[in-house]
Amino acid sequence: MSKIRRKLLEFKKKQEQIACVTCYDASFSKILDELNIDIVLVGDSLGMVIMGDHNTHNVTLNESIYHTSCVAKNKNNFILMSDMPKDSYEDSAIAIKNATKLLDCDADIVKIEFKKDHIDVVKKLISKEIPVCCHLGYLPQYALSKEDVKVYGKSSNEYNSILEQAILLDNLGVDLILLECVDEKLSKLISDTLKVPVIGIGSGKFCDGQVQVLYDVIGISSNPPKFSKNYLTGSISIKDAIKEFYNYVKNIKN
Ligand code: KIV
Repeated sequence: MSKIRRKLLEFKKKQEQIACVTCYDASFSKILDELNIDIVLVGDSLGMVIMGDHNTHNVTLNESIYHTSCVAKNKNNFILMSDMPKDSYEDSAIAIKNATKLLDCDADIVKIEFKKDHIDVVKKLISKEIPVCCHLGYLPQYALSKEDVKVYGKSSNEYNSILEQAILLDNLGVDLILLECVDEKLSKLISDTLKVPVIGIGSGKFCDGQVQVLYDVIGISSNPPKFSKNYLTGSISIKDAIKEFYNYVKNIKN
């Protein structure tokens, strides 16, 4: 079993909530490391918060590699997760090649936005012992219009499909599941059912952990999602705001 899988399973076993924040540079990764954030995600949200785009679609693998390298410079304690950008994992061979590049700059685990046709990609990553997180629910890389931004799992079709995918991925051996904008009851069921931890964003409080975009946590995003919280309000510093988020997550009782 990989070191990362063991670490992640340990959280679930101890019923300790996982605190995950995005990060794109070395200065913030130093702070996140000092504050004991469990997982630092080099998210392709960098398309919006760093590059000023309206979505994640134009982020390239090289940009993900660059930001992963910056964040990795101050990694001592956290698990470093890197997003595989849109079109960087279309088939198994490309996925292995690109995931390896991210691991080579010290990512511990890669994240993909999962659709049914990625089954072979997931199997191949696992067979090559590349730790993998699958992102389910709202998938920003595939979103085409504002109508795609909604709560997923309200209809019985979506509910069953997300639940089946999560169980299948757990059985295949993925290391982590991330649920974005998934109905709270469904998130709870998935978190209660899976062997591996489930972290959520906009998916209610019953997951095994919570993710938030760093710039939403510290209140500097121009267009934060409704479900995010600005922890700088009422805090005396950026560090304090991140600490508030961490304490909030660690104290969620499911
Ligand atoms: O890219 C990102 O920041 C993400 C989070 C929204 C989970 O994938």
